Amino acid sequence: MKVNHAEIVISAVSKKQYPDDLLPEIALAGRSNVGKSSFINRLINRKNLARTSSKPGKTQTLNFYRINESFYFVDVPGYGYAKVSKKEREKWGRMMEEYFQTRDTLRAVVLVTDLRHDPTQDDIQMYDFIKYFDLPVIIIGTKLDKITKNKRQKHINRAKQVLNIDEADIFIPFSAEIGDGKDEAWSALSQYIKR
Ligand code: GTP
Ligand code: MG
Repeated sequence: MKVNHAEIVISAVSKKQYPDDLLPEIALAGRSNVGKSSFINRLINRKNLARTSSKPGKTQTLNFYRINESFYFVDVPGYGYAKVSKKEREKWGRMMEEYFQTRDTLRAVVLVTDLRHDPTQDDIQMYDFIKYFDLPVIIIGTKLDKITKNKRQKHINRAKQVLNIDEADIFIPFSAEIGDGKDEAWSALSQYIKR
């Protein structure tokens, strides 16, 4: 996929702010600091359109990035960051539920997990949440560059096993740093971004 155009359209906190041009949407989901924003940047070849940070909790709103005027990547705040208050966690839950439950243009979810570690309880919950809403999911095992080559397959198998992913679901080892998995990710997404 050749990206000629990418722009942030809105950082939304509620439904009334979502874009209304009815383009298909791909949402990112994953732990705070796992690399969701970096995934978007790597796919669209932009260093920092989606704001990234080495500190968790950078993305706090639903950020709608319009790509080639034909679809959106929706960057969402991460979960599982220990320093978040109960009140903030509830706010996150309401925002996510509102989006997942009511968004007709949401075509698929990219669930990003850290390939270095086993998926967390929160990752498992998120996977189940996506399944509950009957949404297609593409699982990205990121930070592949941080795992030595001879250990990679073992980590991939573990991630699939711990998440208990359906046979039919796609799992892609990925590195935002190096670019591994980029073509595979675009090809997995292609069926969902057609108008
Ligand atoms: P929140 O917005 O806080 O939920 O985080 P996020 O999931 O958007 O993560 P972000 O993309 O901001 O990345 C977090 C940190 O991980 C940054 O320091 C990135 O440079 C780093 N990072 C992301 N992807 C990779 C990767 O594939 N390899 C390596 N080595 N580092 C990565
Ligand atoms: Mg982010």
